[in-house]
Amino acid sequence: MKVDAKDVAVEFHDLTVSYDKKPVLWNIDMTLPKGALIGIIGPNGAGKSTLIKSAMGLLPLSSGYVRIFDKALDDVRRWVSYVPQRETVDWDFPTSVLDVVLMGRYARLGLLARPKKEDKEIAMNCLQKVGMEAYSKRQISQLSGGQQQRVFLARALAQEADLYFMDEPFAGVDAATESAILEVLQELTAQGKTVIVVHHDLQSAAEFFDWIILLNMRLIASGPIDQVFTNEYLQEAYGGKLTVLSEVSELIKKRRLPSREKY
Ligand SMILES: Nc1ncnc2c1ncn2[C@@H]1O[C@H](COP(=O)(O)OP(=O)(O)OP(=O)(O)O)[C@@H](O)[C@H]1O
Ligand SMILES: [Mg+2]
Repeated sequence: MKVDAKDVAVEFHDLTVSYDKKPVLWNIDMTLPKGALIGIIGPNGAGKSTLIKSAMGLLPLSSGYVRIFDKALDDVRRWVSYVPQRETVDWDFPTSVLDVVLMGRYARLGLLARPKKEDKEIAMNCLQKVGMEAYSKRQISQLSGGQQQRVFLARALAQEADLYFMDEPFAGVDAATESAILEVLQELTAQGKTVIVVHHDLQSAAEFFDWIILLNMRLIASGPIDQVFTNEYLQEAYGGKLTVLSEVSELIKKRRLPSREKY
């Protein structure tokens, strides 16, 4: 579905991305609305992580372009935050939880600046939002996977961006952490920020997101959830695992979303 030009957060124009000359994303052409909680859904290997990496300028594009708030990424980078699928940084050197969250501030401060008292307060506030303030002095390497996930979310929040790309923030977290994260994301979109989340669970996707991108190397559909989670599109993306699909359509039928009227 098309978004009015003034309401576009991200535009993908005829995007093709390849690894070793083999395309994994073909001709992705879509616009995504500002202020929405957007889910990128598709099977393993569908190109979900590749899509957000290409939007973050982390991969060479074979063709096409991505524009964010109608600008090139370099002009808006400070306003765009990215949480990778798994932390690839080696946290063996001693780094406290607070320091990790403060890294979110450097996007604003520049790498050489020293964080001020205000930055520390903001970082603590972000830790509190994800329920991790009691761990601020702990080494990041000494936290569980789910706790680390919360800290990386706090780091993204500390950047105070307008657009967030998050790769599977709900992977491997318990139910309490899941609702804590969801609440934080909903709060961001309530403030008019745009949140784009890679997610692979269809059932919870039906509950979480206002807008869904269904991806399997090609763009299957992008739009409000009730237009995208149809049997036809889901079959096209997942290749006919019918039991899952009919459960999802039941969920959609039951769901009454006030945000539906937004688009
Ligand atoms: N660095 C790389 N070099 C070569 N091929 C890659 C590389 N990264 C990913 N791929 C391939 O590109 C395709 C898309 O990968 P991607 O990581 O974007 O999928 P995904 O949808 O995020 O999957 P998952 O649900 O497993 O995270 C896959 O076939 C994968 O094997
Ligand atoms: Mg991935």
